[in-house]
Amino acid sequence: MSSRGRVSALLPDFPWDTIAAVKARAAAHPDGIVDLSVGTPVDPVAPIIRAALSAVAEVPGYPTTHGTPELRAAAVDALKRRYGITGLDPAAVLPVIGTKELIAGLPRLLGLGSGDLVVIPEIAYPTYEVGALLAGTQVLRADGLTRLGPQSPALIYLNSPSNPTGRVLGVEHLRKVVAFARERGAIVASDECYLGLSWDSRPFSILDPEVCDGDHTGLLAVHSLSKTSNLASYRAGFVAGDPELVAELLEVRKHSGMMVPYPIQAAMTAALGDDAHEAQQRERYRARREQLRNALQGAGFRIDHSEAGLYLWSTRGENCRTTLDWLAERGILAAPGDFYGPTSGEHVRIALTATDERVAAAVERLRAN
Ligand SMILES: Cc1ncc(COP(=O)(O)O)c(C=O)c1O
Repeated sequence: MSSRGRVSALLPDFPWDTIAAVKARAAAHPDGIVDLSVGTPVDPVAPIIRAALSAVAEVPGYPTTHGTPELRAAAVDALKRRYGITGLDPAAVLPVIGTKELIAGLPRLLGLGSGDLVVIPEIAYPTYEVGALLAGTQVLRADGLTRLGPQSPALIYLNSPSNPTGRVLGVEHLRKVVAFARERGAIVASDECYLGLSWDSRPFSILDPEVCDGDHTGLLAVHSLSKTSNLASYRAGFVAGDPELVAELLEVRKHSGMMVPYPIQAAMTAALGDDAHEAQQRERYRARREQLRNALQGAGFRIDHSEAGLYLWSTRGENCRTTLDWLAERGILAAPGDFYGPTSGEHVRIALTATDERVAAAVERLRAN
């Protein structure tokens, strides 16, 4: 008799199914839906990236799991130029097929199991928990180290700027997490998907010398090109940091065929080598954020955190599903806060990822309120 079980039974229900009805209501608006529920880019991929992709489209061979030397050098240079990260060896960079894939597999790739504890933010991107559940570890939601008591976690996730709250962790907080992790033998995985999208305060990488004193031991920074370079469709990200940990991830991923396609590696190299397209995209989001923020506040919403990242963490001081209904009547779809943890049931997450035309439509509807 096989002992086969359904792996999906380990996982929570797919939360997006719970907003299907409210989405249908928003879609019934005579001027169409303004979908601000997901953080998916809508602006075109920059020409310089598309050219790099198509320039190698005829190459037939397998790509390497570690990525081309050009890609890894471009990542090291970009992290230095954009975020002041120094001392990173190109060997300690590993491309991934979008960072969601890495996050969902990380506890298993690191060899964690039922005896281990994974700490995730109290209000968190759901895939941190998914990865822990797939590996069968314990999971604790905690933003402060005191919540941990005497426990020694195996892995601590950080996400600054946060999805969904837009909260940015200060240098002192990050330094304390690094010191705590080193004391207790934990790995810190810092999801830095939104590091390039800051508005009102400066986020820091876990690999910033001000945070880790130039010592990357036990630290992994996870970087996605989905948001900053509009590359969600390409599936493009990388992990960088502790050379030993990255070498271990590389070894397992080599055996598993977890390779980033070669044309995507070329596209990533171009994207990491060019800051102009990134700056242009940031300015698009800045303008949309400004308009949506003013309109939401004018319509009686309070916006918490949101000092960086792609979302306005908004509340009307009521159950988030009531707020979702209120927005859907105006043809606007948001994501309910209860997707992200048990303590965020009065917030909705409003994404900045809609075209200027759709953002203007949302603003008009909120103003007409
Ligand atoms: C916090 C966070 N991490 C990781 C990801 C995954 O990004 P990707 O798989 O596109 O690299 C997302 C996407 O929304 C995110 O919000």
